[in-house]
Amino acid sequence: MADTYILGIESSCDETSAAVVRSGEQVISNVVLSQIATHQPYGGVVPELASREHLRNIVPVVRKALADSGHSFESVDAVAVTQGPGLAGALLVGISYAKTLAWAMEKPLLAVNHLEGHIHAVLLEERQKGNHELRFPVLALVVSGGHTHLYLAELRDTIWTYKNIGHTRDDAAGEAFDKVAKLLGLGYPGGPVIDRLAKHGNREAVKFSTPQLKHRDRKDHGKPEPDTPRFDFSYSGIKTAVLRWVEINNMQPLVEERRKALAEIAKPSVEDFLKVTDRRTLDLVASFQNAVVEDLTEKTLAAAREYRVQTLLVSGGVAANSRLRERFVERATEEGVPVYFPSLRLSTDNAAMIAAAAYPKFLAGQFADEELSAEASFPLG
Ligand code: KG4
Ligand code: ZN
Repeated sequence: MADTYILGIESSCDETSAAVVRSGEQVISNVVLSQIATHQPYGGVVPELASREHLRNIVPVVRKALADSGHSFESVDAVAVTQGPGLAGALLVGISYAKTLAWAMEKPLLAVNHLEGHIHAVLLEERQKGNHELRFPVLALVVSGGHTHLYLAELRDTIWTYKNIGHTRDDAAGEAFDKVAKLLGLGYPGGPVIDRLAKHGNREAVKFSTPQLKHRDRKDHGKPEPDTPRFDFSYSGIKTAVLRWVEINNMQPLVEERRKALAEIAKPSVEDFLKVTDRRTLDLVASFQNAVVEDLTEKTLAAAREYRVQTLLVSGGVAANSRLRERFVERATEEGVPVYFPSLRLSTDNAAMIAAAAYPKFLAGQFADEELSAEASFPLG
């Protein structure tokens, strides 16, 4: 079979990205332009600013991805774009551009669910390493700023299908990292900072608990097959518990001092953060991270046992967390299930994962038409 080069475009949140991927298994180029600096002063992503930045960046980002890959608009075989979930205005920038490009160049257009993209970030890199052996059932944890989802993934012929067996009832895990960092005056995004600071704190210092939400799926009642066990998550309570801890221990004045000191520094280093972070706060972030990591790991492994899973995939921005990777490897090894992560670069949002997820759709001829539009809430499976 001839090689297929897909140009992927991603603009669902605060990264404008374009990539060229060969046959779903080799990243030829991957350009990611982060808007973190734009949103940082607001402590989170501002949707209007995100759309504006995507508009400004999409053309140069796509051009660079093509130039880096040695391809031209003419020489790629198809254009793939994120359809959702994400910010509607941000998604529309990528979709309008991809549609116009596909139409003008007479190339097929492929629409990809962002969450499926995160799963394919792992699959792509495993194939790139030469690992073509994937044992089923496969369970994928997609854990990011907007999502905490567990999917059973199946492959029939070339088509992947997904069944959701768990999701967050309130905040996503990454959202909890971001909110906790914000309330501690540590800036945005919170995940990477907490990850680095937690290494300097005692993770046993504060005992946090997370709700246990294993239950049967009521939607399945009445059907002939047995109902499906679900493994849901909830991270809004732990964020409130951290806030309470800060109040009870009168930590607010220190939080304000820290916020002011960090606002003066353009790109604070770990040393800068450590200079303004007291021991109690280090212990607090380490304990918070530990509680979230334990919850994600244990629920995923419980689901894996229940469904006799043979392969675990962990992906999405929070999959970049060093403690999460460490614990997943430890626990999955104990349980005898292989666990795969994307590289750090492909854990957070990128277009290579979109081009990779589009490849099976290209093979199956599942093309998008000119009616394609953004789906801000776009369920997978
Ligand atoms: O996948 P992603 O880039 O965007 C979404 O689809 O949401 O994920 C971004 C999220 C943010 O909440 C960020 O704080 C979190 O991933 N994140 C991390 C780490 N790096 C990024 N969370 C914990 N530890 C990290 N090292
Ligand atoms: Zn994402």
